[in-house]
Amino acid sequence: MKADDVKNVTVLGAGFMGHGIAQSFAQAGFDVVMVDIKDEFLQKGLANIRWSLGKFLEKGKISQEYHDAVLNRITITTDRDAAVKNADIIVEAIPEILKLKQEVFADIEAKAPKHAILATNTSSLPITDVAAATKNPKKVVGMHFFSPVVRMNIVEIIKGEKTTDEVAKVIYALTEKMGKEPVMCNKDVPGFIANGIQMFPLNFVGQLVDMGKFTPEEIDSATTMKLGLPMGTFGLLDFVGIDVVYNVLKFMTTRIPGMKMAKCLEERVQKGELGIKTGKGFYEHPGNRWQRPTVWSQELADRFDPQLVVVVGINRAAELVADEVASPSDIDKTMKLGFNQPVGTLEVADSLGIDAVVDKLEYISKEYNKFYAPHPLLKQMVKDGKLGMKTKEGFFKY
Ligand SMILES: NC(=O)c1ccc[n+]([C@@H]2O[C@H](COP(=O)([O-])OP(=O)(O)OC[C@H]3O[C@@H](n4cnc5c(N)ncnc54)[C@H](O)[C@@H]3O)[C@@H](O)[C@H]2O)c1
Repeated sequence: MKADDVKNVTVLGAGFMGHGIAQSFAQAGFDVVMVDIKDEFLQKGLANIRWSLGKFLEKGKISQEYHDAVLNRITITTDRDAAVKNADIIVEAIPEILKLKQEVFADIEAKAPKHAILATNTSSLPITDVAAATKNPKKVVGMHFFSPVVRMNIVEIIKGEKTTDEVAKVIYALTEKMGKEPVMCNKDVPGFIANGIQMFPLNFVGQLVDMGKFTPEEIDSATTMKLGLPMGTFGLLDFVGIDVVYNVLKFMTTRIPGMKMAKCLEERVQKGELGIKTGKGFYEHPGNRWQRPTVWSQELADRFDPQLVVVVGINRAAELVADEVASPSDIDKTMKLGFNQPVGTLEVADSLGIDAVVDKLEYISKEYNKFYAPHPLLKQMVKDGKLGMKTKEGFFKY
C-alpha cells in the first residue's frame, strides 16, 4: 500500500489526543471514523473539534465551506468492529496501558482488512511490546503526535523491532500529506527522540537537587537569565505536570541501564504536589496559574552554570546519532518543532564546540554522576577535529 491509497482512517479514542488526530486527518481530506467506548466521550471529542474549527473560521483562517467539509468527513461510533472493517490505517490513542493496547491491537488486527496499517500514538510504551500482541507485527508502527495535535506539526514515526521499512514509509508520506513534519525514529528506544532527549536534563537537574548541590531557584535563575528558557527547568516541570514527566521517566529508567529517577520528582508525586494543576510543585502557584517566581535573581543565577543542563541533552542526542536511531537533522527538527526551541540541540553542540561539550560532561561525570560521562561519539569527534562551527564540521557541515 502507498500513502496515496489511504482513504479511510480510523482513530481509536476521542480523548485529548484522539480528537485532535481525527481532526488533523479530516483537515487533510481523509474520511475519518472516530471510535470510543461511550457515546458521551465521542460527543465531547466532536465538540472539541467543532470548537477548534469554529476558532479557525472566526479568525478567517478557513472558509465556511472547508469547515463544513471537514466536519462532514468525520463520523463517530462506539462500534469498533464496524469502524475498522474498511480502514486503511488505524491510529490508536487510547489510555497508556500496555495490556489494554495489546488487547485492542489483537482484536482490530483480526477485524481490519489485511492491508491495514496499525499505528499507536503511545508516548512511552515500546512499539515492539504493543505489536507483540498481533500476528503480523510488521505492520504495527508508532505514530507519535504532539499536543495540541492540530497546532503541533511534528510527528515521530517509530519503527518497532519488526516494523517494515515499507510500513514506516507509508506513515511518513501520510504525515506529509497531512501537512505535518515527519521524523524517523529508526529504533524503538525509550522516550523515542523528543522525550528521549528532553527527559535527561529534567532528571539531571532533579538529581543535582537530590544531592544538595543546588536549589531549584539557583538552577532556574541561571537557565532563565543565562539561557533564556522562559520557565527554567523546574518551572517547566511544574507547568507540564511533575506526574507526566515522572510517568515517562519511570518507563525510561526501567529500560535504560544505569538511569535512575531523581528522588525529588518521586517525592513530589507521592505528596500530590504536581505543579500548576495542584497549586504547588517546586513552586507555589496560587490560583493554579503560572507566575514567574519572585525569588529568581542574578545573584542566584551566578551560582550555577546552565550549560551543564544543555550538555546532558546533547550527550543523549549524540547517543541516538551513534546508535543510528535518528539523523542529526531529524533530531534537531524534533527538538525545534516539538519544544519550540529556536535552535536544535546538535546545532547548539556545534556552536558550543564539541571539545567544550566533552569537557563539561567530563566535569559532570567526575563531580556528580558517572552516568553522564561523554558518549564515545563525542570523544571521537574531538579526536577527528570535528569540533563544530569553529572547524566547519561537527554534527553538521558549515
Ligand atoms: N496527552 C498527551 O499530551 C499525549 C501526547 C502524545 C501521546 N499521548 C498518548 O496518546 C494516548 C492517549 O492519550 P490521551 O491523553 O488522549 O488520553 P485520554 O484519556 O484523553 O483519551 C483516551 C480515550 O480513549 C478512550 N478509550 C479507552 N479505551 C478505549 C477502547 N478500547 N477503544 C476506544 N477508545 C477507548 C477513552 O474513553 C478516552 O476517551 C496515550 O497512549 C498517551 O500516552 C498523549
